[in-house]
Amino acid sequence: MQDIVIGYAGKYGTTKELSKRLEAELRAIATQSADQRREIDILRLPVRELSVEHIHDARVVVLGGPIYAGRLPRVLRKFCERNRTALLSRDIGLFISCLYQDQQARDQLVQAFPQWLFDHAIASANLGGRVKLDELKSIDRLLVKRFGKIDQDLDRIDDRRISSFAGELYSVLKRELG
Ligand SMILES: Cc1cc2nc3c(=O)[nH]c(=O)nc-3n(C[C@H](O)[C@H](O)[C@H](O)COP(=O)(O)O)c2cc1C
Repeated sequence: MQDIVIGYAGKYGTTKELSKRLEAELRAIATQSADQRREIDILRLPVRELSVEHIHDARVVVLGGPIYAGRLPRVLRKFCERNRTALLSRDIGLFISCLYQDQQARDQLVQAFPQWLFDHAIASANLGGRVKLDELKSIDRLLVKRFGKIDQDLDRIDDRRISSFAGELYSVLKRELG
């Protein structure tokens, strides 16, 4: 059985990067934890490669996705709906990657995942976002510039939030392990 399964989505790599940093932080917390008797098992995959067996085989499931025009990618929304029963049987952590901040970001976090999943989650966070205009497809660059009013590269990845989100997840895992 895996201790934690992390599934992520996203077109431009920031959410994947956040999932990597989250995994590293979880491993660091586990190593520092005085009562830790073994390394924690973490499986980290794009959500399109995750199956219902992965959910059943996990103590804690973490799902993360970027916000594009207010929504999570379809692949992640579909994954949640398809696996509703399995997800409701597990401890769940949810995160988003986005560029908005403060109240706008909090609103996006609440609205991004289905209500039933958000209500069930034991932790949720906006871990921040990043945009490199040169790397965007031209239609996406246009949207970001016009509607997001962004005209330069931005890096709003929030390492402190990654740490505290990892801390919350780890304390739930520790309770599970007894
Ligand atoms: C087409 C597009 C639409 C976006 N829309 C939003 C948005 O509505 N709100 C927001 O906070 N950030 C928005 N962003 C910023 C992304 O959420 C942010 O860049 C995120 O880190 C991208 O993750 P990824 O690299 O995994 O794709 C948008 C980015 C793109 C490319």
